[in-house]
Amino acid sequence: MVIASYLPNVRDQYEAYPFPKREPEDERRRLIQCELDMLGKINHFGFAGRQSFGPGFRALVAGGGTGDAAIFLAEQLRRRGRAGRVTYVDISQSSLDTARKRAEVRGLTNIEWRHDSLLALPDMGLEPFDYINCVGVLHHLADPDAGLRSLASVLKPDGCMGLMVYGRYGRTDIYEIQDLMRLALAGEPDLVHRVAAARTVLERLPPNNIMMRGRDRAAALRFFLDDEPNLVDALLHEQDRPYSVTEIYEFLAGAGLHLVDFTNYHSLNAVCRLEYGPALYLAGLPVLERIRQMPLPVQQTVAEIINGSMGLHTFFAAPREDTRAVPEDDMVPFFLMDHAVEACTAAIEAPPGAIAVTLRLGLKIQLDLAPLTKAVLALVDGQTRLGLLFDRAAAHTSAPRAEVIAAFARDFTTLSNLEWVLLRHKDARAVETLAKKYNN
Ligand SMILES: C[S@@+](CC[C@H](N)C(=O)[O-])C[C@H]1O[C@@H](n2cnc3c(N)ncnc32)[C@H](O)[C@@H]1O
Repeated sequence: MVIASYLPNVRDQYEAYPFPKREPEDERRRLIQCELDMLGKINHFGFAGRQSFGPGFRALVAGGGTGDAAIFLAEQLRRRGRAGRVTYVDISQSSLDTARKRAEVRGLTNIEWRHDSLLALPDMGLEPFDYINCVGVLHHLADPDAGLRSLASVLKPDGCMGLMVYGRYGRTDIYEIQDLMRLALAGEPDLVHRVAAARTVLERLPPNNIMMRGRDRAAALRFFLDDEPNLVDALLHEQDRPYSVTEIYEFLAGAGLHLVDFTNYHSLNAVCRLEYGPALYLAGLPVLERIRQMPLPVQQTVAEIINGSMGLHTFFAAPREDTRAVPEDDMVPFFLMDHAVEACTAAIEAPPGAIAVTLRLGLKIQLDLAPLTKAVLALVDGQTRLGLLFDRAAAHTSAPRAEVIAAFARDFTTLSNLEWVLLRHKDARAVETLAKKYNN
């Protein structure tokens, strides 16, 4: 247990205010589901659907905080029987203690605990990992590039990472308030006193302050005042740098990684993958055609700036390209979550033509599924491979099989971007999803 390299003030902050705020006893009544770390999703994006999460599977949670991701991964792996293990690493002993107590309450024995800096990973003598989760951590390092290279050095060549870093344009309000607190609280070194003073300043913010503008004031204040670890993490952090989409591509390239894709942090109310497409905002405008000629990172940065509220970028990254599953005969489609089952059922039952799907912030896309795609979707059971579903849909509709395949391939892009329908290879053991349909 050697803390090799870390920022002392960052460590002190997370010793005093472990993040996020968690009570171990709450494990008796609920499991926090980190959507990024759903095995079915990791498999689809990071392993072309071919990962079985067997006994040798090893996951690392770097900067694991109070344990959400480590526990969710370990719980999913345990439910698979003889399955893989999770390694947790964090510089904060108090965060580690909370995470370990949560695991004890759940009776989880498949997590290895390391009180150390993720910068020390290459020297810890660990076996390389299949999957690395690092959420909300790298942007707090003095040298995030070194942090990402450290993670990459312990990732298997065919492994993948699930990462989250702060968004440059979506946190403008946060950075203004950080400036305010730095100025207003200069000369107050004690963190507990800083928190107390910050609370009083927040309560006096007028309606036109950037943090209050366009927001429900009471809710905006509660978000910080009822959750001091959150207040400290967001508004009083000593070390915090954001990334634009373009900067994320550069960040990854510097560690020999490719962006697999952005993903939905929470599918219902957080930044969604579709928000990275300029067409969501500029459909029908001539300028969109020009933007579409630009490199993908530029297109996505345009979307990021128009959107204005992508405070978190959540994405999968891997040393290899093409780690995402594609709709082929031997792939088994499944719904990831209950709301996806409901949404697809509604789409199947809707009369021909487009239906509106509402995303976060009231943003809408028009979903116009081909009747042949609907015929395939109606048969999805999480067990049957696409080849058979195509045969059956062709028989039901009397359409040529090639037409069924073409229709499904076209619509699958949107269905998987929404993360409603994902794929696993028929030879990969089915993973539990959060859709009750498969868990009864
Ligand atoms: C904002 S919290 C995120 C916790 C967790 N990943 C989550 O999403 O709930 C950041 C965590 O990173 C840890 N951390 C910061 N620098 C670190 C380093 N160099 N090595 C390991 N952990 C670090 C902190 O102690 C803290 O627990």
